[in-house]
Amino acid sequence: MPTPIVAGNWKMNTTVGEAVTLASALRDPLDAIEGVEKVVCPPFVSLLVVKNALGDSSTAVGAQNMHFEERGAYTGEVSPPMLADLCSYVIIGHSERRQHFWETDEVVNRKVRAALEAGLRPILCVGEGLEEREEGYAESVVTSQLRGALRRVDSIATLAVAYEPIWAIGTGMAATGEAAEAIMVAIRSTLSELYGDAAAGETPLLYGGSVTPDNVAEFAGQPNITGALVGGASLDAGRFAEIARQFAGG
Ligand code: 13P
Repeated sequence: MPTPIVAGNWKMNTTVGEAVTLASALRDPLDAIEGVEKVVCPPFVSLLVVKNALGDSSTAVGAQNMHFEERGAYTGEVSPPMLADLCSYVIIGHSERRQHFWETDEVVNRKVRAALEAGLRPILCVGEGLEEREEGYAESVVTSQLRGALRRVDSIATLAVAYEPIWAIGTGMAATGEAAEAIMVAIRSTLSELYGDAAAGETPLLYGGSVTPDNVAEFAGQPNITGALVGGASLDAGRFAEIARQFAGG
């Protein structure tokens, strides 16, 4: 079993000052939790101050996105080597990027490969929309996104996959543990087919979508769910630490 990962995606929230306050509040409570990899993903502009506020604590820092090119005339973008100096994780292919910034499977694939090349651990996000779920296509949408994202990727040794059904994000309507587990099984078997059972078995599979301290046990109790990608609840130090604690076994 991989070490579970509990990652907080702060999205477009927190000023630099607020990010420092939140990171400082998280530092000690998260440090007290063992057996879980804890990650916070602030906005780009706060990566450095959050890294400094966490200091030598056991909590890792991640970015929420990046460009796939190393450098060049891409005004406003941030490259993998720039991030590699600041953090160790990067969220890739979040549904909000796919939806609002037109990221295709091809773009997501280029980003996954660039992240791996730069030594960053990608948290690759996949997930179906409401209509796709209602029409019975959830599993095929997710596995097709996964295959697309992993094209020409040789090794998944440092990859984590986050299953985030779009209809569960920010809605307060989390998936049931059972429904999330069913998709995780499909993800795991696709990874097995592509990379073998051992590599697939070692890949952390995170659930995301309205995770709270009240419902996290339902996910942490599933055999194929090894972590959570948390949005709203990660902006509150106490709630985020409680979620991480439950993945550590209480
Ligand atoms: P919420 O936890 O706010 O639903 O967000 C989930 C998410 O998108 C994390 O990446």
